[in-house]
Amino acid sequence: RVQQLKMSIAKERAKPLDRMISVQAALSAHLQAAIRAAYPEAAAAVKVQLTSSAKEEFGDYQCSNAMSLAKAVKLQPRQVAAAIVDKLEAGDLIEKTEIAGPGFINISLRRQPVIEELNRLLVHGVRPPPVDRKRRVIVDYSSPNIAKQMHVGHLRSTIIGDSVARLCRFLGHEVLALNHVGDWGTQFGMLIAHLKDRFPDYATKCPPIGDLQAFYKESKVRFDSDEQFKQRAYAAVVSLQRRDPDSTAAWKLICDASRKDFQRVYGRLGVENLVERGESFYQDLMTEVVDELKSGGHLVPDEGRLIMWPPGCDIPLTVVKSDGGFTYDTSDLAAIRQRLFAESADWLIYVVDIGQGVHFKGIFSAAEKAGWLNPAVARVDHVGFGVVLGEDRKKFKTRSGDTVRLTDLLNEGIERAGAKLAEKGRDKELTPQELKAAQEAVAYGCIKYADLSHNRNNDYVFSFDKMLDDRGNTAVYLLYAYTRISSIARTANLSPDQLLKLAKSPGITELQHPKEWKLAKQLLRFADVVDKLTQDLLLHSLCDFLYETACVFTEFYDACYCIEKNRDSGEVIRVNHWRILLCDATAKIMKAGLDILGIRTVDRM
Ligand code: ARG
Repeated sequence: RVQQLKMSIAKERAKPLDRMISVQAALSAHLQAAIRAAYPEAAAAVKVQLTSSAKEEFGDYQCSNAMSLAKAVKLQPRQVAAAIVDKLEAGDLIEKTEIAGPGFINISLRRQPVIEELNRLLVHGVRPPPVDRKRRVIVDYSSPNIAKQMHVGHLRSTIIGDSVARLCRFLGHEVLALNHVGDWGTQFGMLIAHLKDRFPDYATKCPPIGDLQAFYKESKVRFDSDEQFKQRAYAAVVSLQRRDPDSTAAWKLICDASRKDFQRVYGRLGVENLVERGESFYQDLMTEVVDELKSGGHLVPDEGRLIMWPPGCDIPLTVVKSDGGFTYDTSDLAAIRQRLFAESADWLIYVVDIGQGVHFKGIFSAAEKAGWLNPAVARVDHVGFGVVLGEDRKKFKTRSGDTVRLTDLLNEGIERAGAKLAEKGRDKELTPQELKAAQEAVAYGCIKYADLSHNRNNDYVFSFDKMLDDRGNTAVYLLYAYTRISSIARTANLSPDQLLKLAKSPGITELQHPKEWKLAKQLLRFADVVDKLTQDLLLHSLCDFLYETACVFTEFYDACYCIEKNRDSGEVIRVNHWRILLCDATAKIMKAGLDILGIRTVDRM
């Protein structure tokens, strides 16, 4: 297996990939080589420290390695900086270097490669930065539980997971998005027994279990109070596990009813390509896994249970319960094994709340111990996230203290987005179709963006007022910015075809004005940002980047005329084509970023 993977890695590397250059990565590589050449003994421990410069006088990028390296080699930092610069190959990116302050290396870029990269972007579209190899990725996200409320935690998983899956597709990986729904376990006994009692002719007529929550509550009440019912519920679990056709049919009906609810939410949020593969899928595989772990000597008895102690973990996994049944742990062990072997995945991503961190740590460690997971070959990530809080900073609840239904939440978003657009008089400007599209883009875009723009590891406060603010780092602001930027070419009477022709020849020809240069560099940072995202899967850095891009664009647009008009007649007298192309490149980068975030744009709003 390892041999096979190595071969496919080599093959992927050999293929010429159409990728965007990451300036940061390219400069880092040059610097790494220079440090190695200057200080061969110390270089191994050095990680290149390179940031884009905050101020123009510091050049375009700044490297700060000389300071820490100086201690290791016992020399003056400026001396070390000079030695690195001496070995630095200019390549085609670097125009000049300068040693500043205590030992910073300021690097200025050449204009030409930046111009060329932007022209490539205009002609070939926004491409991803290089990746080490093409991977088969499985993203496990959303994963609500059948018959139970799909709550805001699942909404977070859905929003973040969809975005992670989009990112992986953008990078060129092959992605399988799995909805690991909770569709198995003892609670199904009680649901099935209740269904059979309430709707005896359920096999021929569709039972009205539209309100599954109520149905779940009813059956729970009976389960807790009626001993006879309880026994029937247990019997139903056993008959379901035996695949008795009656119980299986009842189980399917219950799952279908839930599925319709989930699907409505996914449809509204534009979540596509999410394949449902719930816990039930792993039934037979769990038996196999238990046998394998047993014969590998990984399981130990503990008060009637069989547990496994994953290396480095303080809490064991419960693999077999005392009644012989399986658990959530068992199903995830079966799932990880199936994903690594049957699916040949080499990157597994689980988008599940931070509260399950210990569970996944245990699963990953156990998979390694069992010899299924080789970290040198396959990457695994638990992409955790904090809880959603209300504006009172307490757990997000309705006024009456119930959990918030997602449908109600989305409806409120639509309502508030409508009000916001009306407040700006947009209802009078736009056609009814345009207004509806804008309303949906704003509502769902805001909910997603508010979630994605915060560091996912923290809890976040859900506030419609904040997310619908059109000043500041919000989806409304970005959507407005995007429509404005992408309409500039139209104002200059240039069609997309004409733009493309211009991009091919002559393309962007100069970046003389400091604000043009600043915007151009900002746009190329997209590759750096995506590169970092690939490592840490922290989507808020992409949001920050898009917001910054919109701000840098505004600086450029305020300082540089794109179109010059006659003051009196309003007639276009001069079009500065290279600047229009710069606007177009900005729109393309913003669109690519918003696409990764799963945020739909509109032409007019
Ligand atoms: N259904 C679970 C829950 O609601 C989430 C499942 C996450 N995925 C997994 N492979 N365990 O908490």
